[in-house]
Amino acid sequence: MRVEQGLRVATAVAHPNIALVKYWGKRDERLILPRSSSLSMTLDVFPTTTTVRLDPNADTDVVALSGEARSRVVAFLDLVRELAGRTEFAVVDTRNTVPTGAGLASSASGFAALAMASAAAYGLDLDATALSRLARRGSGSAARSIFGGFAVWHAGEGANAAGDLASYAEPVPVSGLDPALVVALVDTGPKAVSSRAAMRRTVDTSPLYRAWADSSGADLLDMSVALRRGDLDAVGEIAERNALGMHATMLAARPAVRYLSPATLEVLDGVLALRRDGVPAYATMDAGPNVKVLCHRADADRVAEMVGAAGRCPTVVARPGPGAHLRGRP
Ligand code: PMV
Repeated sequence: MRVEQGLRVATAVAHPNIALVKYWGKRDERLILPRSSSLSMTLDVFPTTTTVRLDPNADTDVVALSGEARSRVVAFLDLVRELAGRTEFAVVDTRNTVPTGAGLASSASGFAALAMASAAAYGLDLDATALSRLARRGSGSAARSIFGGFAVWHAGEGANAAGDLASYAEPVPVSGLDPALVVALVDTGPKAVSSRAAMRRTVDTSPLYRAWADSSGADLLDMSVALRRGDLDAVGEIAERNALGMHATMLAARPAVRYLSPATLEVLDGVLALRRDGVPAYATMDAGPNVKVLCHRADADRVAEMVGAAGRCPTVVARPGPGAHLRGRP
């Protein structure tokens, strides 16, 4: 935190994360408490850099966003002000390097960076667990981007203050893995349905939802073992089945939510072809048509070439990246 001419200002950098066991469905919409635990890898690409500057003379927050995105940031700042016991409004400057709203986890890096920068600017002294809880209140998946590498977000139990306290992310132990995640950018336009609305509709109307949420609990246990063993095939198989199951719950929602496009399926065929050729490669998709393919780092170029050709799209090779940090303090 710097104090510039009497103004409190902080800049934070955070990276997106991609869930290998997904978060899909809330048990509390206000506190953003999930129905099941999730696990992700933070990437080393597409950082978000956010500066929060308190302005004692301002009579409103200045945020260069519009509509729903702006109200979510302002509601988040209200929460930070309440926790810090301060009243000044803020100027928020956000630089995203990932296309927003395309299911590429821009809200995860965005709210992780905002949580860290605003906590510092408003003088909240939070440890990583408390920061994770705070980031969760902006966007659930942001709880995991506070940490680098692999992180598990505990659903926790209970409601209200007890539920809030119990739901945070923390790093998970991994050994002997040197993974890459190849991002196939089949479509970077904004999605038609926000993940927030799609989640709600799935929980409320999909007859498949409960079965997936239950199996996700088992996936998390299996995933933790596979990561500790450094077994990329097991990690990939669990991630792929968990993601396909999540999309199945959405397809069964009423009306259906379908994020997967023809190009998504072409990439999935490319992933199967790689496996037939003996290259371990496994796919996962979020609230959008883009595909992320988990593989060994040594195979990443070959995987990128294959899935890029299959989807006729650009690719970006990501590796495990750092947790959120204040600029100048990694
Ligand atoms: O944090 P949100 O509300 O953007 O939800 C993210 C949901 C998924 O990306 C689809 C899954 C996940 O665990 O990140």
